[in-house]
Parts: sequence; structure tokens; C-alpha cells
Amino acid sequence: MIDADALRETFRSRYGREARLFRAPGRVNLIGEHTDYNDGFVLPMAIDRETVAAAAPRADRRVRVCALDLGEEAEFDLDRPGAPRRGRWLDYVEGVAQSLAGRGVRLGGADLAVTSSVPPGSGLSSSAALEISVGLALATVSDKEVPRVELALAGQEAEHVWVGAMVGIMDQFVSALAERGHALLIDCRSLAYSLVPLDTSETAVVVCDTNVRHELASSEYNARRAECERGVEILRGVLPKIAALRDVSVGELERYETLLPEPVRRRCRHVVNENERTLAAAAALRRRDLWEVGRLMDRSHRSLRDDYEVSCHELDVLVEIAGNFGGAMGARMTGGGFGGSTVNLVRRDAVDEFRETVSSEYNRATGRRASVLVSEPGDGAGEILD
Ligand code: GLA
Repeated sequence: MIDADALRETFRSRYGREARLFRAPGRVNLIGEHTDYNDGFVLPMAIDRETVAAAAPRADRRVRVCALDLGEEAEFDLDRPGAPRRGRWLDYVEGVAQSLAGRGVRLGGADLAVTSSVPPGSGLSSSAALEISVGLALATVSDKEVPRVELALAGQEAEHVWVGAMVGIMDQFVSALAERGHALLIDCRSLAYSLVPLDTSETAVVVCDTNVRHELASSEYNARRAECERGVEILRGVLPKIAALRDVSVGELERYETLLPEPVRRRCRHVVNENERTLAAAAALRRRDLWEVGRLMDRSHRSLRDDYEVSCHELDVLVEIAGNFGGAMGARMTGGGFGGSTVNLVRRDAVDEFRETVSSEYNRATGRRASVLVSEPGDGAGEILD
């Protein structure tokens, strides 16, 4: 957790003023991977790692930002947008500000200081946590109340326009709207969601970070999106009413999949089945059938590895270690893939042994260190009041 008092003190000594603090969490996705940009379903939860933005309003139109963890500073003018896609953290900050402005939120200038406990590059959405904490901070110190879904959409737009990553809505949505003790079943078409209770008294959600991030991640992500769109185009020839893979049932895909060239066929197979698995997992979670959720997670991983091809050796090793561990109910890669983390459901009384097994076996197999984090499902973004 971030030390709020220390952050207030840092802000005071840097800017000579009092700050208000706004937090937004990272996330782990239990199931529903690479479905969000296909108008499908996802089942993420917020983790207890977060980004905190300290903010105070300014009388002018400038935004000054200090990235405390990097020891870097930057500023921009709300009326004179800089160039997007500079490849810097500032793209996220200025991006969310300009996206909110473009949505009619009249922001004022501000001084900001940002710090985070979400490990970057771990597949736990450090960028969404940054966008949502900064967006909430800027809006609130400008006396503007922004509906949470709007805030999430502004974060996504920052990624599309300012960062150049064509992400879906999942990460920003769960960072903005999560609730303690729950996973969120999100319909990424209508943006309706329901809270699914996740009782962790006997089962722990364990996140294992491979500590690798492969170069391919963003180019392959955009390539998968394009392959899914190609699949929809072809399938429209026989299913004229479909707008996205979300509209294709498992039975329909089985009937028509020979029309699709490879690898489009396997990509579509993953997405169509993953949507079904996600709905089944949410139903199993509601019945508290964690073993069934685990089985669906295992299948999700195989599909991501073989059909969608977004896993990597290190992720597969971690999933295999969990698969051989008696107290683990299920395991899969989480997030975009090509490195980052796995999510595991582990019997609470076996967590310590799991941690040790993962650490030693992962190291033996890859020569690398895994980071293991046990997280409760936490709250979405909000102001830190003391
Ligand atoms: C990244 C994106 C999300 C989602 C996942 C894959 O985390 O930001 O929108 O597409 O990958 O499920």
C-alpha cells in the first residue's frame, strides 16, 4: 500500500500546498481474455496494488506532474495539446486529461504527484491505474463529477489516441468501478455489469508474475484484433446479422468454421468459446463452485496458448507448476499475454506451500524469479480521505 501521509508530505514540500489524494487499483482478470474488444464478457477484479495521484488545483490552465517513482517531471497546457505518442508516461496523463476535455469535462489546471505499487509490465494494468487515478484527480479538483463509465472510456481513449494501444475497455472499467469482495462480470458491448461475490476465506486468488515482458506484446495484440475482425467479415457471409464475434454461438462456429482460413479460424474459436466459459465461470462463482471455476480457467489457458497463441514459455511453465500442485484449483495467464502474470485459485491452507513450490520450480525451469502476490478483491477508484 502507498503511504498516504508520506505522499502528502512530499507534495507539500514540492509544491508548497496541500493535496487531495485519489487512488485507482490494478486488476487481475479471472477469465474472459481477449474477449473485450470482441464485444464479449470479462470477469476481472481489482487487486490491492494501486496508483495514487496527489492533486491540487491551479488558477491557470497548466498541469504539472511529477512521476515520483521515476524522479521525473513534466507539464502541459490544457489549451495547447502536445503531440500524442511520444512513448512516455506523460502520454497517459495528458491523454486522459485531453480525452476528458473532449468529452465536455471542463478541467482546470493542477499540480500532480503520482506514485504506484502496481508493478509495471506485469500484466496487472498499471497503465489503467495511472489513467483512472489521474482522471479522477483532475476532474475532482476541477469540481467536476464524471460518471465512472465515462472515466473508464476516457482512459481507454487515452490508450487509443495518445499511447497507440488499441485496448478493450476491461482494465479501465474495473479500475474505475470494482467493489470489494467481488469480481465484475462486464458485458463489454452494453457496458452493463454485475457484481459476483468472491468469497476468499477458503480460496485465495494468487497472482504469479513471470517478470518477463516480450517485445511482441503490442504488435501481436493489434494483429489479433485484426484477425478477429477478418473472422467477423467472413462469417457475415453466412450470418449477416452479426456485428462482432460476441454474436456467434459455439454451434454456429462449429458449423461454419471451415469457411475461415487459419489462423483466423483458431482465433475465432478461442473468442467464441471464451465468452461461453466466462459466463459459465460467473455462474459457478455465484454457486461457490470454485473447482468448476478452476477447470474453466485451465481450459481458458489452453485455448490462449494453442488457439489464440498469446502465451509464452514462462507463462506456460507457471501454469504447469500450478497444474501439478494439488491445492490449486485452476491457473491461466491473465491480461494481454506474451509475459506478465498468471492468476491461480489456490486453497487458502495451501498458499504458503504453493508460493514456495512456484518460486523454486519456476527458477529451476527458467533461471528467473517469479513474484507471487496474494490479493483480495478490492474497491475501484476513489478519494483517500483520512
Ligand atoms: C489487455 C487490454 C484489455 C484486454 C486484455 C486481454 O489487458 O488492455 O483491454 O483486451 O489485454 O483480455
